[in-house]
Amino acid sequence: MNETFDPTRRHSLGAAAAWMMLASLGAGRAQAGSAGTAPALSFTPVPMTVEAPLAVPPGYTARVLYAWGDATGQAEVTPWGSDVLVTPAAQRLQAGMHHDGMAFFPLDGRRQARTRHGLLALNHEYTDERLLHLDAASLADGARTPEQVARSQAAHGVSVIEVRREGAAAAWSVVRPSRQARRITADTPMAVSGPAAGHALLRTAADPEGRRILGTFANCAANATPWGTYLTCEENIQGYFEPPTEPGASQRRWGLQAGGRGNWARWHLHDERFDLRRHPNEFHRFGWVVEIDPHDPTMTPVKRTALGRAVHEGAATGVSKDGRAVVFMGEDARFEYIYRFVSRDRVRPGGFAANRDLLDHGTLSVARFDAGGRGRWLPLTHGQGGLTPENGFADQGEVVIRTREASDRLGGTKMDRPEWTAISPVTGEVFVTLTNNAQRGKPGLPGADAANPRAPNPTGHILRWRHGGDLAAETFQWDIVALGGGETAGDAFSSPDGLTVDPFGRLWVATDAAPMLEAAPGERLWLPRNQLLACDPNAPGGPQMRRFLVAPPGCEVTGPVMAPDGRTLFLNIQHPDAGWPAPGGRPRSATVAVTKDDGGVIGG
Ligand code: FEO
Ligand code: CA
Ligand code: CA
Repeated sequence: MNETFDPTRRHSLGAAAAWMMLASLGAGRAQAGSAGTAPALSFTPVPMTVEAPLAVPPGYTARVLYAWGDATGQAEVTPWGSDVLVTPAAQRLQAGMHHDGMAFFPLDGRRQARTRHGLLALNHEYTDERLLHLDAASLADGARTPEQVARSQAAHGVSVIEVRREGAAAAWSVVRPSRQARRITADTPMAVSGPAAGHALLRTAADPEGRRILGTFANCAANATPWGTYLTCEENIQGYFEPPTEPGASQRRWGLQAGGRGNWARWHLHDERFDLRRHPNEFHRFGWVVEIDPHDPTMTPVKRTALGRAVHEGAATGVSKDGRAVVFMGEDARFEYIYRFVSRDRVRPGGFAANRDLLDHGTLSVARFDAGGRGRWLPLTHGQGGLTPENGFADQGEVVIRTREASDRLGGTKMDRPEWTAISPVTGEVFVTLTNNAQRGKPGLPGADAANPRAPNPTGHILRWRHGGDLAAETFQWDIVALGGGETAGDAFSSPDGLTVDPFGRLWVATDAAPMLEAAPGERLWLPRNQLLACDPNAPGGPQMRRFLVAPPGCEVTGPVMAPDGRTLFLNIQHPDAGWPAPGGRPRSATVAVTKDDGGVIGG
């Protein structure tokens, strides 16, 4: 979590995506550091001073595809309207609020060179309660009605929608009706697997076995796996619980504040499981990576506890040299960690059915970035490195439930808010956005280190590492690709967040920055709008940032994902100001599809 998370302030959240289907199998086997084959980025950069609400380069078109309140296609539903108070039942059949992480799953035939049909899975990270309930006065002093809580829970979670493009130059549209469409909310029944399934710390009065959890929420970044499933990542869970009056040490370590401060959702007023004074273990049932098979709308989502509990950002998944799944994950909070999971078993052809237990067995590790560009993965394995009962870790289940404390003990590197991770299908390099950390170097807090070299770091950076051709290697080499605040060549940026690598190895970086910030002591950087930038990380002469999109006022850009043919870039606009997408209307987060007018590859 961002320690200063406050949903009434609009600049701290974000994220999502991956086009990994084709990418990942090749990624792990590619030779790290081999020459990139990216086509030159030839678009005309968009000036930050542009006046249009959403701007892309000349020769490109951006169209809204799926906004909050749009029908998923499961069933007919009362159309969303700017002054319509949506019912909880309708909200369960409509796009949720605050679109974030996203992934694309092609449905074209194998021989189809162009991507024209697929599924989009996307997260609805959190709600703006004032916009959602249309009655700000009723929310005074944290009050909520039962219907408001139900509506809020229904506006969270995940959408799966079917999308189609009829011709090379045609716009994408949502297929309605669709038997594939689905909404998953904060109430949807889920299974639990891995070392924490059935653990004493997961058992509650409503679920004495600790194996069935209702819902997912705070879903931030997301990725597709090489076997065609969607990994959605539970991030800022601490804002949904009423904690004890005096939280214990572990609860405080996980962001719970005394006296209920920070519980903005207020669900506990009408759903007692969110009241930790009555059900303390409910807190342990969130903060997981959840696997969803988007191809089967009846599938029960699974919380994969072997991947560790965290304030999760992405879960970029590739394949090791010997065919095992490798998942890279960041934890977006100041001075938290980067994780890797390597499966015990190999990825098998046959989709989810052939890989339904793959993410339940393997090794979770935390990253240590050493000076000199070297690094090592430290295994979070019970019985090793002091992760023993004497030190408070009864078993592997407790290690994965209390991943932060276990990582503290092992000496993982405390990072500047790791947001998205992404794997290059061309080079096998792994990238992470480190969004910012204004607290680094402050009294009593960690100072600069090799991988987090600026104290404070108000504008963030992008870091990459290489595993010598095998994503499962125990050691790696790392370097910094780009620094925010105008220190990297090209267009200035701040607070990198959403991230994807396209089929050609080019980075697409979405930002989630405050408009005005102090890039260096006494030096103001004015970036009034968030943006999406492209960058070839292996360009001769070094990376250069090029601004591809300027976003509507007030929003962050998130969810970037390229279609497999490279000819559509999908992204999400989250929490725009009033007037977008419709002038004068209630603002709506939305999925946007960007295409090139001549049908060509995005970016040139
Ligand atoms: Fe939900 Fe770290 O952004
Ligand atoms: Ca963010
Ligand atoms: Ca984010």
